[in-house]
Amino acid sequence: MIEQERSPLPPAAHEGAHAIEVDNLAKRYGEVEAVKGVSFTVEHGEVFAFLGPNGAGKTTTIRMLCTLTQPTGGRASIDGYDVSTRARDVRQRIGLVFQEQTLDQQLTAEENLRFHAVLYGVPKSEVDARIDRALRMVQLIDRRSDLVSTFSGGMARRLEIARGMLHTPAVLFLDEPTIGLDPQTRALMWEDVLRLRREEGVTIFLTTHYMEEAEYADRIAIIDQGKIVALDTSGALKRTIGADTVELATGNDDLAAKNLEAAGFNIKRGDDEVVAFVENGEAQVASIIAAAGTPIRTVKVHRPTLEDVFLHYTGRQIREGQGGGPTPPHFMHFARRR
Ligand SMILES: Nc1ncnc2c1ncn2[C@@H]1O[C@H](COP(=O)(O)OP(=O)(O)OP(=O)(O)O)[C@@H](O)[C@H]1O
Ligand SMILES: [Mg+2]
Repeated sequence: MIEQERSPLPPAAHEGAHAIEVDNLAKRYGEVEAVKGVSFTVEHGEVFAFLGPNGAGKTTTIRMLCTLTQPTGGRASIDGYDVSTRARDVRQRIGLVFQEQTLDQQLTAEENLRFHAVLYGVPKSEVDARIDRALRMVQLIDRRSDLVSTFSGGMARRLEIARGMLHTPAVLFLDEPTIGLDPQTRALMWEDVLRLRREEGVTIFLTTHYMEEAEYADRIAIIDQGKIVALDTSGALKRTIGADTVELATGNDDLAAKNLEAAGFNIKRGDDEVVAFVENGEAQVASIIAAAGTPIRTVKVHRPTLEDVFLHYTGRQIREGQGGGPTPPHFMHFARRR
């Protein structure tokens, strides 16, 4: 636990202001409508994720919220301060970790932070303590005097997070924070981020196209082609697209289907299998097998994932970018049921 008070920010613009409030926000670059009117609010201390494929408008939205790009439509505010008219107040309250690496490779970890502290007007008397705290937070205190050029990708990324929180922002924006990192480093980085939220109450807004990463968020907005197509908790998003499926390959599908229906299961016949739709697939496997009343060759239980949710709302898979491509059979069940 690190003891150091957050230096008090001027109060929010008005009582009850949300950490982030976005209303019909839009950005057009000539013919390209990068963001087509998105609306959402983020509460103080929330971890909120934008999940979407390449070109969905994630970075453009972040850039507008961080006052780096002017919206061409709608409005947005941080702590009640409008991003278009109160840019100074907004900048005081935010930290940003860019999608691209922006550290100076020829400086040490500490020098990078010191430079940032000056840029952001951190009071001189507080600089040392804050650098210390930030480096401890991301567990890089032992590497403070090493050149960034000697850091691994994951260490550099965590140093960027340390830098983003150096001026104790109320809202930290992370654009694809773990892109290109191995799963282990990604997990470490998430420990840092969640500790930041826990110990400092920082609101986190992140973008990602990793399903697993979005799972860390309290709520997820699925964004595609400039629009939010769904927004909720991970659990609620999965529930909206349907139940678990238990897929049986049997010696006699006709008989299995008949028996399962008689036992009250909601089922569907495939070409080579019988599929039962149930609330809790794993818990019900045994009773489904018993009810089928015929020898079972294989059983597959599938619980909806965010991948399925994305497919449900966009008709595409997130990993294939704009492509489309073939749909694996277990996703097809959900697609067909709609
Ligand atoms: N400065 C710009 N000028 C013109 N078009 C732009 C500009 N910035 C972004 N765009 C376009 O806006 C759309 C959204 O881009 P954006 O960078 O916001 O996507 P993204 O969701 O962050 O994608 P990625 O996952 O690849 O980072 C794209 O079609 C992109 O080409
Ligand atoms: Mg981006």
